[in-house]
Amino acid sequence: MSKVVVVYHSGYGHTRVIARAVAQGVERHLGSRCLLLAVEEVDAHWEDLHRADAIIFGSPTYMGSVSAAFKQFMEATASFYLAQPWRDKLAAGFTNSGSLCGDKLNTLVQMAVFAAQHSMIWVGLDLLPARFGDGGIDGQLNRLGSSLGAMSQSSVEQPPGLAPPLEDQLTASHLGERVARLAQRMVRE
Ligand SMILES: Cc1cc2nc3c(=O)[nH]c(=O)nc-3n(C[C@H](O)[C@H](O)[C@H](O)COP(=O)(O)O)c2cc1C
Repeated sequence: MSKVVVVYHSGYGHTRVIARAVAQGVERHLGSRCLLLAVEEVDAHWEDLHRADAIIFGSPTYMGSVSAAFKQFMEATASFYLAQPWRDKLAAGFTNSGSLCGDKLNTLVQMAVFAAQHSMIWVGLDLLPARFGDGGIDGQLNRLGSSLGAMSQSSVEQPPGLAPPLEDQLTASHLGERVARLAQRMVRE
């Protein structure tokens, strides 16, 4: 059995929708268990993170970067950086923003660098970008055309029940399932 932890921050609930979708994707893979953890709960769960086979990071994009709460989580890990307990674990990331772009690639880059600092192995999104055909990109997976991780967009006027759209949630589930599948392969070796 592989153990995956999804650790995320969500100020207003939109990124939480995506975090749940990622967790559903993980659990869809037979033999994988997912612990869904808000950064506010992390202090009671460091051992779960250390025991995980994979950790998936999630943050809204605030001012073109991870949120302050997520950065606080990142900096808390400096306390065990020298011991490198996350070496060779899989890592992946997702982010949600208000604008279609919103500079959120930078958020994923921050997460990937953070994972590299902990000697983790970064898993990207294995989905081709949605194509602009006659029907436009709506309804297709990877609507926002990301490859470093899962991106989603939530119009700021819409509450978490209405945004992010289903295709972004399914894109996130796909990433969760991919990480679970790869983690399972590593556990078998
Ligand atoms: C402090 C702050 C900064 C933000 N900065 C950006 C930004 O740089 N780009 C963007 O597209 N949206 C930005 N937004 C909008 C959020 O990314 C968007 O509302 C998102 O859905 C919030 O996710 P959450 O509900 O999980 O907190 C910002 C929102 C806040 C509160």
